[in-house]
Amino acid sequence: MRILLVLSIVLAVILGCHAYSATWGRRNSNDYLLSRTLEARNPIKNNYWNVNVNYPNGYYNISAVIVYDNFKNNSGANPSLYSGGPGYRFCTVNLRGQVNRGINSTVEIWGR
Ligand SMILES: *[C@@H]1O[C@H](CO)[C@@H](O)[C@H](O)[C@H]1NC(C)=O
Ligand SMILES: *[C@@H]1O[C@H](CO)[C@@H](O)[C@H](O)[C@H]1NC(C)=O
Ligand SMILES: *[C@@H]1O[C@H](CO)[C@@H](O)[C@H](O)[C@H]1NC(C)=O
Repeated sequence: MRILLVLSIVLAVILGCHAYSATWGRRNSNDYLLSRTLEARNPIKNNYWNVNVNYPNGYYNISAVIVYDNFKNNSGANPSLYSGGPGYRFCTVNLRGQVNRGINSTVEIWGR
């Protein structure tokens, strides 16, 4: 019983990391941090947040887009890359929260 509980917590943590934090592309050690955006919203009753984080066309080429879920308890927003990203100079990341839950995610854009 106890081992099952421990196993399911470990599994939840692993799945949580995959679902709510994300990396696209690969950050090189000499890349610049082009942008860091914190999106934090309070829960809405019977509804969810659907937020786009936009990085407009810039001078640098994007090498990596990294999203951190600051909740770390499976209740955060699910990130997806809508457009642009690695290999482009612009990018849009969508953060889709869960019903009745807030979001607190950090979106980092790296490039050179
Ligand atoms: C971005 O990539 C293109 C194509 O590889 C290159 O021509 C351009 O110089 C790069 N821009 C910068 C700022 O490095
Ligand atoms: C979001 O998470 C960050 C990092 O953990 C924390 O500093 C910040 O206070 C949080 N913001 C809200 C509104 O909860
Ligand atoms: C997850 O953590 C955040 C911040 O610590 C908290 O506001 C939220 O209620 C938690 N969600 C759940 C489902 O425990």
